[in-house]
Amino acid sequence: MASFQVLFAFLLVLFVYSDVEAETIVCNGDMPSKFPFCDRSLLHRFRAVDLVSRMTLEEKVAQLGDCAAGVPRLNLPHYNWWSEALHGVSDVGRGTHFDAMTPSATSFPTVILTAASFNETLWKQIGVVVSDEARAMHNVGLSGLTFWSPNVNPVRDPRWGRITETPGEDPFVIGKYAVNYVRGLQDVEGYTNIADPNGRPLKVGACCKHYAAYDVDKWNGVDRLHFDAQVTQRDMVETFLYPFEMCVKEGDVVSVMCSYNKVNGIPTCADPSLNSIVREQWGLHGYIVADCDAIDTIVTGHHYNNSFPAAVAQSLMAGLDLDCGITSPQNALEAVQKGLVQEAKIDEALQNLYVVLMRLGWFDGSYGNYSSLGRSDVCKPEAIELAAEAARQGIVLLKNDKYTLPFNFISKKPTLAVLGPHANATYAMIGNYALKNPCRFSTPLGALGKYGTVKYAPGCLDVKCPNIDGIAAAVEATKGADATVLLVGLDLSIEAEELDRADLKLPINQGTLIDSVVSASTGPVVLVIMSAGGIDISAFKNNPKVPAIVWVGYPGAEGGQAIADVLFGHYNPGGRLPVTWYPTEYTSLLPMTSMQLRSNPELGYPGRTYKFYNGTTIYPFGYGLSYTKFKYTISAPKSVSYDLERLRGICKPIESSIKLFPECQSILVRKYSKCDQKVTIVVGVINTRKMDGSHVVLLYSVPPSDIIGAPIKRLVGFQRVFIKSGKYVQVRFDLNGCKSFSIIDKDGNELLPAGEHSLVVGDGYEKISTKISFNFTNIN
Ligand SMILES: *[C@@H]1O[C@H](CO)[C@@H](O)[C@H](O)[C@H]1NC(C)=O
Ligand SMILES: *[C@@H]1O[C@H](CO)[C@@H](O)[C@H](O)[C@H]1NC(C)=O
Ligand SMILES: *[C@@H]1O[C@H](CO)[C@@H](O)[C@H](O)[C@H]1NC(C)=O
Ligand SMILES: *[C@@H]1O[C@H](CO)[C@@H](O)[C@H](O)[C@H]1NC(C)=O
Ligand SMILES: *[C@@H]1O[C@H](CO)[C@@H](O)[C@H](O)[C@H]1NC(C)=O
Ligand SMILES: *[C@@H]1O[C@H](CO)[C@@H](O)[C@H](O)[C@H]1NC(C)=O
Repeated sequence: MASFQVLFAFLLVLFVYSDVEAETIVCNGDMPSKFPFCDRSLLHRFRAVDLVSRMTLEEKVAQLGDCAAGVPRLNLPHYNWWSEALHGVSDVGRGTHFDAMTPSATSFPTVILTAASFNETLWKQIGVVVSDEARAMHNVGLSGLTFWSPNVNPVRDPRWGRITETPGEDPFVIGKYAVNYVRGLQDVEGYTNIADPNGRPLKVGACCKHYAAYDVDKWNGVDRLHFDAQVTQRDMVETFLYPFEMCVKEGDVVSVMCSYNKVNGIPTCADPSLNSIVREQWGLHGYIVADCDAIDTIVTGHHYNNSFPAAVAQSLMAGLDLDCGITSPQNALEAVQKGLVQEAKIDEALQNLYVVLMRLGWFDGSYGNYSSLGRSDVCKPEAIELAAEAARQGIVLLKNDKYTLPFNFISKKPTLAVLGPHANATYAMIGNYALKNPCRFSTPLGALGKYGTVKYAPGCLDVKCPNIDGIAAAVEATKGADATVLLVGLDLSIEAEELDRADLKLPINQGTLIDSVVSASTGPVVLVIMSAGGIDISAFKNNPKVPAIVWVGYPGAEGGQAIADVLFGHYNPGGRLPVTWYPTEYTSLLPMTSMQLRSNPELGYPGRTYKFYNGTTIYPFGYGLSYTKFKYTISAPKSVSYDLERLRGICKPIESSIKLFPECQSILVRKYSKCDQKVTIVVGVINTRKMDGSHVVLLYSVPPSDIIGAPIKRLVGFQRVFIKSGKYVQVRFDLNGCKSFSIIDKDGNELLPAGEHSLVVGDGYEKISTKISFNFTNIN
């Protein structure tokens, strides 16, 4: 969201806050007998059509912004569409606020750490708990029912300031995260399989954002309000749209938000693909909203349309339903009067919006039994515990020489030096889209203090560490300590919305702090890193005097407890990096504004993400150790054949560096080709050491070699499993061959190549692979 919110909007907020009191039920009293839009026996769509038909044009345009005015003469109250729940209900947005009796909500780890758990059950469960709190707050008049979360833009470049909000760089993981989180937020138990998707009740409404190819905030003089992303059709289909497609098709999300940037010359909120792709191709059941002031930006930032009425008309025709801001409500009347857009377009937009509010129970009262939720259902101990659990599951063990961790002291009351700018972190742990007061904070210092005598010295004033004045005290503290926990990293002053990073380094004086502490320490030094994006920590990775390194993302309000649980072995870490950690040279090789995922040898640009970057890494995507060790076996069919006739398959040639292909080089994967044959892969996992632990099985497919432009590999399945020491479990993947072994060609077609593919399991210290051939029969 834009941080520049106009005074007008602020005044509206004050007005709105003062009179929201309880759960809204529009159709109360004698409304149902007076108005068909309150007749529950009718389909939502008919009710919405009736409602909109009763409004004057002036009344209609007053509903087109996030602070929808309502229509008093129809008993239709105002509604604030803008609430946020990225990792817990947040006070960002005009639809939610906290008060003296309910000053906080549960603050989960930021998404990048929760994603690192690779645990779909956890992702969904967090959605369920967040929506319980959201419903509870709605019932006491503190929040709306529509939450503009999650953020599903893939991390294309390691400098991006909003990595913390996202599930990382892999479109498949992001899509899975989105589907689970959205279903956790939206689904009403017992109503998930309703035949009419526009009648399916919603617990709260989620929103996948920001459509699309949005991942430059402010870098080197380029900002999101002016940036024109040049994107190929192939990258669009394969990477940028993929999570949105999953979110809409599998998550059945109720909203998609268009972004600030342009794509290939067109501001996304003015792009007719909102209609043709999001609504028609994917089948969105819900509404499309513009990022805050993005309609204004069409004129003022992109100079795409030369007047506000034209921009409003253009966006409505493209498929937009709602403006976060005041540009649409203030200019839609003129747009209609000037004939730039038909009133019917506004009708359609409003109908889409009211159907969603009906599904949320705003007209008739909530479905399920959410009306009983109240203030005591916010910040419940179970919710706080789930926040701690999410952090534990996400934490990634990057280095652990000679099993330094978990700590195992002879003394019952060891001396711990707890050092570094994040040693006593609070707000840094909850990142952005957070809130002023989480239920409580567990700081690293406080949590580690339960295990011994702590000597605390931050070493730096803050993460930027402007001087070295504090280092001497940290050096003093480490001397004689049984162990040193050194908490370093970044925060929102370095990576944030509207703030991309300049490089991948740790601030220089933090490096000095680490070096000084390491040379003075008597016990082992454990480096704990808080960050969203990767940091080039090669100096410490390669330094034997730093035996252990742990990445904790921004671990949420319970972060301290989770860190202590991991360091002291109450939890065996199993998280995996959801982004590639590149060496710092990487960013000097290519500008952040180059959108291409594949390498560009002419310009010397390396590829992006684990799929296309083949250079050295600090740590690869998917990396993560455990206190125990795991070994794999894999079983997969040697070959899979497809009957072209049955599939009604269309053969397509493939661009290859060699000419060894059969007659039918690949088949076009399309909906109608019935290409749904299951390919079953079974991975056996054995826990070979003395500690129980969870393990993430990552399964990749590798296309036949020599296909030009194909990814190095591609994640097609993952599962987190718990395995007791010495035990063996089988993990089964039922893949759709056509979907999991396909590639995307230059025109954005999805093709399944014939020939020998591979399957690879694992990323860290253990890896196993096998070959699998695809052939097509009935050629001619
Ligand atoms: C908005 O601008 C685009 C590009 O200049 C133009 O094609 C389109 O017709 C304009 N829309 C309206 C409603 O004026
Ligand atoms: C309704 O509430 C009861 C009591 O709080 C709970 O046990 C039950 O699971 C809830 N049912 C649904 C469908 O949410
Ligand atoms: C650590 O942070 C907490 C919470 O902000 C604060 O109350 C406490 O005084 C801090 N401890 C030290 C030693 O600075
Ligand atoms: C990595 O990819 C580049 C560009 O495609 C290629 O020139 C280079 O040989 C590859 N390097 C390795 C080590 O495979
Ligand atoms: C996945 O998350 C759920 C919910 O927190 C948890 O119960 C389960 O143990 C986790 N699975 C593994 C293998 O860690
Ligand atoms: C393709 O698969 C069929 C059925 O398994 C087999 O008979 C045929 O020999 C295979 N063809 C090739 C070229 O591998």
